[in-house]
Amino acid sequence: MKKISVIGAGNVGATAVYYAAEKNLAEIVMVDVVPGLPQAKALDFLHASPLRRYNVKIHGSNDYADIRDSDVVILTAGIPRKPGMDRMDLLKTNVAIAKAAAQAMSEYCPNAVVVVVSNPLDIISMVVLRETGFALKKVVGMAGVLDATRFRYFIAEALGVWPSDVSAMVLGGHGDTMVPLRRYTSVGGFPLSELLDEQAIETLVQRTRVGGAEIVSHLKSGSAFYAPGASAAKMAEAIIKDEKRLIPASAYLRGEYGYQDIFLGVPVILGANGVEKIISLDLDEQEKKELDASAQAVVEGVRSLETFYRPG
Ligand code: NAI
Ligand code: 2OP
Repeated sequence: MKKISVIGAGNVGATAVYYAAEKNLAEIVMVDVVPGLPQAKALDFLHASPLRRYNVKIHGSNDYADIRDSDVVILTAGIPRKPGMDRMDLLKTNVAIAKAAAQAMSEYCPNAVVVVVSNPLDIISMVVLRETGFALKKVVGMAGVLDATRFRYFIAEALGVWPSDVSAMVLGGHGDTMVPLRRYTSVGGFPLSELLDEQAIETLVQRTRVGGAEIVSHLKSGSAFYAPGASAAKMAEAIIKDEKRLIPASAYLRGEYGYQDIFLGVPVILGANGVEKIISLDLDEQEKKELDASAQAVVEGVRSLETFYRPG
């Protein structure tokens, strides 16, 4: 059986484990620094298995060595955003955590595909790439699936239709500058512009951009985890089953869309080897302008990273 390791047994990590278990995808290991936490949650998930109809091994651990030979590692370790806190505020703490986790990945599972979730997403993905030394396609950030599922839900709610019938594409960095693409969003095959007027679409685009912050403002401490956990599990499934899903994800760009050496949300084909292909879409002038602004926000994040971080 294949093996998925989830680093960080907090809200997003545990939710991803639960959804992955329900898909009977693979043996699962959950690692956290808090003694007893991953062990407790692993046992609780196992107790639920007769009711929820899965039969996979789930093991909780405080030892990184237990990620040995994983096919997929989902990195969720880190501190989440609190009200009034920007994702960039998380940078220093989460870089140090990502560094330790990435070093363990290169030691124990050098052939794994890594799905990065910890924020700031596009920057932590860069740290994981540099620290693991993995091939570029083996490190991929989860954000576009989440941002797109939020956009899909808001559209479905506005139209009163089945949420899964909405397809959407959201590009750019995982922040308020993300770019929900109206022209590449459809409902049952119909272009969005046939179903909603420009003003209504703009309202949903704006709500998507601040979708994470809306949840933080309700929760007060901590950020979203059910939709993020489901998004990470979907990506793990695509990799484990070599599904070749065409989804938005944060990938390392070497000239694609005109950007060099940054992680940015773009459409990719996700399969057993990770990012198997980056799909080039024709963007109109406005879309390209918005994507440039989003890429610029990531470039600035990388600059802040480089003020204190050196690989190794
Ligand atoms: P959480 O606080 O519930 O869980 C984080 C867990 O990481 C804690 O259990 C903590 O003990 C653990 N941890 C800390 N250092 C560790 C280390 N060195 N090794 C292993 N585990 C370690 O936080 P939550 O809500 O699960 O969020 C996790 C991260 O995911 C945050 O950075 C958050 O901003 C990010 N996030 C990203 C999303 C995305 O779309 N990319 C969506 C939602 C959250
Ligand atoms: C979200 O979008 C916090 O990045 C996280 O919910």
